[in-house]
Amino acid sequence: MSESPSRWPTAVEVGEVGPRDGLQNEAPVPIEDRIRLIDALSGTGLRRIEAVSFVSPKAIPPMAGAAEVMAGITRAPGVAYRALVPNVKGAELAIAAAVDEIEVVVSASETHNRKNVNRSTAESIAAAAELVTLAHQAGIPVEGIVSTAFGCPYEGDVAETRVADLAVQLRDAGADRVSFGDTTGMATPGRVHAVLDALAARGIAAADVSLHFHNTRGTGLANVVTALGRGVGRFDASIGGLGGCPYAPGATGNIVTEDLVHMLDDMGVATGVDLDALLDCAHLAQDIVGRDLPSQVLTAGPRTRTVGEWERR
Ligand code: COA
Ligand code: ZN
Repeated sequence: MSESPSRWPTAVEVGEVGPRDGLQNEAPVPIEDRIRLIDALSGTGLRRIEAVSFVSPKAIPPMAGAAEVMAGITRAPGVAYRALVPNVKGAELAIAAAVDEIEVVVSASETHNRKNVNRSTAESIAAAAELVTLAHQAGIPVEGIVSTAFGCPYEGDVAETRVADLAVQLRDAGADRVSFGDTTGMATPGRVHAVLDALAARGIAAADVSLHFHNTRGTGLANVVTALGRGVGRFDASIGGLGGCPYAPGATGNIVTEDLVHMLDDMGVATGVDLDALLDCAHLAQDIVGRDLPSQVLTAGPRTRTVGEWERR
């Protein structure tokens, strides 16, 4: 093991987003399959699972039935089941479903925010403040997500200062944590440094942020390593690499949970997640969507799997 704890945190948290960000970009699958996948993931050591979103079923058909999914899962102790919401109505539904954490999303790009949630970013921030109050009254923490933080499919590059401004506004609205989404995989290591620099200039330390990368253009794990070097300790990923990109048919989705854990394991960065159990979940995810997923460790096997082990399989 090429352990070098001084170069990156000794432990990070991997947040699983396959059941939401992944499946929302797949053809709709039955509620029972969504429950089966979440329950399998909750046995891997993952501590945070984005299980559903409470959004308009007309806007995102694969996420219809979020309340049924939440009612059907078996809650594992120590696992936080999270829901993404775009507005106050979504938060009310999430609270009624007793989620453990709510995520509210605002795009750094005005155009993307309008296309995604049909309102201005200022209106989204106002709604965030209102729903944080509701969630906190119910004892539920809220994470504020700045999406299109590394670029926008409509506007192109997004100014890092704009990203930092929105993060400050979300924090001022009461968000307990802030996260930055590379919604369509436009981040590169240089842009990761630039966003983290802009956040630091506004008093938001790398150790306090979560990053959400997509591997649309193959830069996902490079971005993670860059961010690790800056002290970021929370990353989202999707089992098997479920999902895709709504603006680029055929493109891959989030960075792959098992590829991320496999890399971190060998770097001596603890995740608390069991790789073999993840690989079982990735097989399940492939069965559920009925196609091969872009997971490289699922395809090639862990780096220490010998030829002899392959031949016996
Ligand atoms: N959950 C479920 N239904 C919702 C909802 C929510 N959070 N918010 C609104 N709705 C329903 C309304 O009740 C209404 O239903 P009706 O047509 O049966 O009366 C309908 O959606 C339209 O409501 P309205 O407030 O006018 O919303 P809109 O049409 O302007 O759409 C959003 C706004 C935010 C609801 C919609 O764009 C959305 O759900 N976006 C989510 C996008 C997303 O998840 N993107 C990926 C993650 S970043
Ligand atoms: Zn995403």
